[in-house]
Amino acid sequence: MKITLLKLLKGGIALNLILLGSPGAGKGTIASMLKRDYGLVHISTGDMLREAVSKGTELGKRAKEYMDNGLLVPDGLIIEMIREKLLEIKNDGFILDGFPRTIPQAEALDALLEEMGKNLTAVVLLKVSKETVLERLTNRRVCSNCGSLYHLKHSPPKVNNVCDFCGGSLYQRDDDKEETILRRIAVYEEQTAPLIEYYKNKGLLVEINAEPHLEQVYAELKRCLGLGN
Ligand code: AP5
Repeated sequence: MKITLLKLLKGGIALNLILLGSPGAGKGTIASMLKRDYGLVHISTGDMLREAVSKGTELGKRAKEYMDNGLLVPDGLIIEMIREKLLEIKNDGFILDGFPRTIPQAEALDALLEEMGKNLTAVVLLKVSKETVLERLTNRRVCSNCGSLYHLKHSPPKVNNVCDFCGGSLYQRDDDKEETILRRIAVYEEQTAPLIEYYKNKGLLVEINAEPHLEQVYAELKRCLGLGN
């Protein structure tokens, strides 16, 4: 799939993307770069759920056990949560990171977008091996204040355990333990990977090799989407 999105963006047409890929594929990192460069709204269901857990909301209480065990939170809870968030968006483009994750979620998204009169521009699949996922997630650190992502070897903070952007302290996610990572990968293969075929059949899938250095992955993504610098 090759589309000249730059023309669409210049013409004021929103860029609406889904980032698909296994845990640790780089969805959150790439979404932050797209948000920075193209002003898209970044919607991460994982971040929304972690916020609900830390605030101790009813949703957070119900989601926590699934998340800690590397399992998917039930579709009904996720669809209700994302519906509210999507309805807040006016004319901006958006990036969905970590949603949809099951066929029922994808079907619910289709119905919601139709109701909103919006279309998906592309579904970007970030492809990585299991070995890479394990290496990335065991080395991942997250800023407790602004959510910036670090990798202890590939993109470490300038000062140990301190965020470069806001000075917040860095932490390791509860679900980034090896045993839980392996379960998350298995859940991805069983419940989320069928979405690849789903979006291929709709002619929306763009496949990217997400193994190389981050800047290289991002450049390839922009090239495939026809986005200029
Ligand atoms: P979520 O937070 O969405 O986790 P995930 O999908 O498992 O994805 P990750 O955030 O682990 O990885 P990522 O692809 O964003 O990689 P990142 O950019 O951080 O979900 C967590 C949980 O919430 C789920 O398990 C489930 O319980 C629940 N949940 C969420 N959404 C749900 C839904 N829709 N339905 C049901 N349940 C849901 O990168 C990883 C690391 O690698 C970072 O350190 C980064 O710096 C580094 N890195 C990235 N790219 C590169 C590169 N090219 N080279 C070197 N290092 C890189």
